[in-house]
Amino acid sequence: MARKKIALIGSGQIGGVLAQLAASKQLGDVIMFDIVEDLPQGKTLDIAEASRISGFDAKVTGTNDYKDIAGADIVIITAGIPRKPGMSRDDLLMTNAKIMKSVAEGIKANAPNSTAIIISNPLDAMVTLFQKVSGFQTNRVMGQAGMLDSSRFSSFISWELDVSVKDVNTMVLGGHGDTMVPLVRYANVSGVPVMELLERKYNDKEKAKKVMDAMVERTKKAGGEVVKLLKTGSAFYSPAASAIAMAQSIIYDEKRVIATCSYLNGEYGVNGFYLGVPAVLGENGVERVIELSLDENEKAALDNSIEAGKNLIEAMENLGF
Ligand code: NAI
Ligand code: 2OP
Repeated sequence: MARKKIALIGSGQIGGVLAQLAASKQLGDVIMFDIVEDLPQGKTLDIAEASRISGFDAKVTGTNDYKDIAGADIVIITAGIPRKPGMSRDDLLMTNAKIMKSVAEGIKANAPNSTAIIISNPLDAMVTLFQKVSGFQTNRVMGQAGMLDSSRFSSFISWELDVSVKDVNTMVLGGHGDTMVPLVRYANVSGVPVMELLERKYNDKEKAKKVMDAMVERTKKAGGEVVKLLKTGSAFYSPAASAIAMAQSIIYDEKRVIATCSYLNGEYGVNGFYLGVPAVLGENGVERVIELSLDENEKAALDNSIEAGKNLIEAMENLGF
């Protein structure tokens, strides 16, 4: 089987980790693009020179020319600026929309048969814009957010309950912002509801609820927590790990069920709109959206997130995108 080709658009903090993970997991050959001269060439040279030590066979190269991404099977986009302390993801809208438009044009012209995973913020708007400009089929355009948000939620639960994070399953629905919806009812440790374990731990329903509420809040604000600590940028290891898991599920047709910013055709009562939902990722990109039954509160929280997403898209359209 010929090696797959993975194009990384953006060679900053996340781009660097993406390149290293894609190569070390031998997902395929990696081509890294950036508008900054020599940056992708330098990062990829460094990664490639570790191949003997890490033991991977993959070409890892850098470029400032979109022509070099020709034939890419997967493109992962991180081009844009990250949040600075005090900035919301939406503040990034104008700058990153301009960048995303040029990126979508470059990919459309040079890798028209690729599947795109977008990471750039504000995530839900950037995914929508990429699809609009590229004209790619909606199942071939998706955003990474929910996998990271769910992973953060799972981490907090594993630390709280002192159990392996591998056994903690969580799902976060909605947009990648303050209105995201971590689903408490669906959180479980190897099938056992997390709330049940918390109630047993504290022998106090009220206390268990407070602890869970705090973990939900921390999940919603987890991106900002890292921004505040780093001071000069945002999270990069965890978003890269998330997008690589999504790319791997597509490349190997694993059909993993991953919280993905996916285009909805009536699911969750939403039509013609990108939203974070559980989706089956396989060789055809987003192959299927899984609908969860939601109670009244969960439905209201999701509606709130949909509303925020609609406002964001409207703001972007008002800016001329
Ligand atoms: P970074 O600033 O380290 O890297 C961004 C790269 O994009 C830079 O190398 C820059 O030169 C490049 N770039 C700028 N304009 C470009 C263009 N027109 N074409 C190609 N490349 C261009 O930023 P970092 O930390 O890698 O974050 C990237 C994006 O991901 C940000 O928008 C950030 O907010 C977002 N992000 C999203 C997350 C998610 O879960 N979806 C999580 C964390 C960050
Ligand atoms: C994050 O969630 C800032 O979106 C970025 O870390």
